[in-house]
Amino acid sequence: HRGLALTLLSLGVALAQQTGGRGDTVSKHTVTLADMSSQYNREVLWMSIPAIVMSIIIFIGVSAALFYSVWKFRERKGDTREPSQFHGNNTLEVVLIAVPFVIITVLAVLTARTMARVNTVSAEAERVQVYAAQFWWNFEYPTHGGIRNGNEMVVPAGQPLQLEVTARDVMHGFWAPNLGGQRMNIPGHTSTYSIDTTREGVYQGNCSQLCGASHANMRYKVIALPQDQYSRFVAAAQAFKAPEPAPGSAEERGYQIFANGKEGQPACQNCHRVQGTPFNGAAGPDLSYFGSRYTLGAGMWEGEARQRELPLWLKNSPGVKPGSLMPAYPKLNDRDIGDLVAYLDSLKLPEDAAYYSWET
Ligand code: CUA
Repeated sequence: HRGLALTLLSLGVALAQQTGGRGDTVSKHTVTLADMSSQYNREVLWMSIPAIVMSIIIFIGVSAALFYSVWKFRERKGDTREPSQFHGNNTLEVVLIAVPFVIITVLAVLTARTMARVNTVSAEAERVQVYAAQFWWNFEYPTHGGIRNGNEMVVPAGQPLQLEVTARDVMHGFWAPNLGGQRMNIPGHTSTYSIDTTREGVYQGNCSQLCGASHANMRYKVIALPQDQYSRFVAAAQAFKAPEPAPGSAEERGYQIFANGKEGQPACQNCHRVQGTPFNGAAGPDLSYFGSRYTLGAGMWEGEARQRELPLWLKNSPGVKPGSLMPAYPKLNDRDIGDLVAYLDSLKLPEDAAYYSWET
């Protein structure tokens, strides 16, 4: 019943949006449950309308019959007549079987049709491999030389997508509500799904399967770019080479900590990759263009909060994100942390290829 109430609510808001300001773009970081930004969601919404209409008709019919009977056959003072006694009513019984049968058949046909439509992967789909790990996301583009990004899935708006979804440790759930239903990430198994975005914008994604202490801190963004901007991102990401830090600079000292750790504390490169450097760890998110990202800690902070929280994150990740597999670094002093931040911030895509503009 809560599902139905939610659907009705979404339906109302969606219809209000259809009649109100059409043609406007999604405001960059505001998404509502009812924002129908994918063909998938539209198909599911239109499929649910006949079910909702039938439910309303049945509800009204049953309620009317109930109230009528209660009122009509209520006990009256001094009326001692016995109610009419009968057993069985063939006509009524046939109707009571036939009507639900027709309703269920109609719903089954509609459901099968919608499922076939939304699960067909189109030939011109862009492929994205998604794997989930405690507690972050990896997005990889097999047709673009294996470029990857952590926690931010950049996609071409309007083009269908083929998601190849799996998990590395336990089950997780890929769910960007505006872009369709939940997809299970199952360790050792890759499932293929089709999703799509009908317009550009930044969409919220969440892990929808309870997966451990930081399940709630396992979020991501789907960033749908116009086709030309997406092509620039892909080209720049493929060609990306981390800049060489100047000798003696803060970036250079940060680079050294990244490479060697400090006083026996593990090096960042054990777990993180940076394209164009010898750093090739795979246990944690790829940090190749970390300086161009919008979020931190798998969506825990965004925008300015991300810059504000980065030092604390580097110093004590499990302290701010329960269950985080990145160790705490009590031996890094404030200067070390500043140097690491400087190094990470220097890992940037060229301005015209950055998929997120900090000014907006
Ligand atoms: Cu991953 Cu919940």
